[in-house]
Amino acid sequence: MVLPEIGEETEAVVRFLQRYASYPSVSADPTCEQGMRDSRDCIAGFLRQEGFAVELVAAAKHPLLLASRSISPQAPSLLLYGHYDVQPPEPLELWESPPFTPTIREGVLYGRGVADNKGAHTILLHALCRTLRENPSCPWNLRVLLEGEEEIGSPGMEAFLKEHRDALRSELFLLADTGTCDEEHLSLTTGLRGLLTLELGVTTAATDLHSGLGGPMPNAAQVLAELCAGLHGADGRVNVGGFYDDVQAPSAEELASLRDISEEDLRRDAGIQAFAPHEGSALYAQRFLPTLEINGLSGGWQGPGVKTIIPAKARAKISCRLVPDQSPEKIFQQLQKRLQDLCPPWARIALSPEARGKPYRFPLEDLRPEGTSPGFPARAFRLLQTATREIFGTPLRLSREGGSIPLMCAVQEITGMNPLMPGFFTARHRLHAPNENLPLATIARVYRVFRKCFQELFQPGP
Ligand code: BES
Ligand code: MN
Repeated sequence: MVLPEIGEETEAVVRFLQRYASYPSVSADPTCEQGMRDSRDCIAGFLRQEGFAVELVAAAKHPLLLASRSISPQAPSLLLYGHYDVQPPEPLELWESPPFTPTIREGVLYGRGVADNKGAHTILLHALCRTLRENPSCPWNLRVLLEGEEEIGSPGMEAFLKEHRDALRSELFLLADTGTCDEEHLSLTTGLRGLLTLELGVTTAATDLHSGLGGPMPNAAQVLAELCAGLHGADGRVNVGGFYDDVQAPSAEELASLRDISEEDLRRDAGIQAFAPHEGSALYAQRFLPTLEINGLSGGWQGPGVKTIIPAKARAKISCRLVPDQSPEKIFQQLQKRLQDLCPPWARIALSPEARGKPYRFPLEDLRPEGTSPGFPARAFRLLQTATREIFGTPLRLSREGGSIPLMCAVQEITGMNPLMPGFFTARHRLHAPNENLPLATIARVYRVFRKCFQELFQPGP
């Protein structure tokens, strides 16, 4: 089937993405080795065909893919980052088409990874490679870094960055993996929240007990529920001593980025009835305040029918989003102390930290033409502004985001680079949730923006 309304170039993007997103590359799932490999082969095949040399570099669990097309050591370098791993697709029964059978319905492509992040880097790479075909003498060295562990907290990235620091250092670094306020705007992300994820285990007995013994017997599920309930006040504030100590208020510039974003759009796009209690406006709380979320609870009997037990064990997965200047280590200790204080003498708890990443801030001075940096980020920023205005018909917005890319601070600290992060995900795209999607119209518009930016950027001259 042809999709005439999006044009031949975008159609090639969509066709490739349908194949690429059909390989299940869930980095957290040990049974997805084959899908991880197929995804790497798929994107490596594309890059090789476009003249890139591609190598795989071992990381903690899944190798990352490093591709390059170099012309001369004197030429400036452009680095593109993306991740080929995806989040688990469960709960499967809520998908309207299978998560790894990317399907187009009413102008929208559905499938795990079609937005986050296979979709985003497919758009970027196709725009880049089309432009290279047109202009094979492009005066830039090009590098592409595709990670396979972003969705599990980038455990292999720090070592990789340290080892490849010099080879990676580039005049311009582009990373498309963040959000925007609505479908009509493209954003440039100026900050990301940090992250701390952990597992909380509660044990109250050596084995489950017959609930006929109940009355005096401790119940792990009950204790877990009470511990979790003790982590927030009725006003929505996190009830952990010291949690807000290091929270920095946003600058006037950052605050201004919330101007004319609609809370009603946010509510509708997320498909919620009403916001839960929070401090400040919903948009403020989402970007500038830290959170603590229960990601999942389990324990006891959840199967069909009756099983009258008192569970001996229960578990919760918890994640905190952190803002400047909170530190994941300090928050972990505060949380540990709070949970120990809440824990009754009839239970034992165990806390194991999982992913962590510091909050990240982009140095806004890099965008100013008179800035001290070599000037490429400022130039690319202007190109992005112009192309966005032309193609979206709206101004490029600067905004901090509520999500996290845990490797960002390591990139900044180890390589000194700060990526330009054009963002176009919205709550409608259902990242990490069932029915993840990306409208073809969004793919077409974002593709045209990057196509135009690369065409201009690769013109010889200043
Ligand atoms: N693409 C997201 C991050 C994102 C999404 C930033 C939307 C801004 C707006 C990224 O792939 C992601 O989901 N990261 C995880 C990291 C975690 C699993 C270690 C996150 O933020 O939960
Ligand atoms: Mn992502």
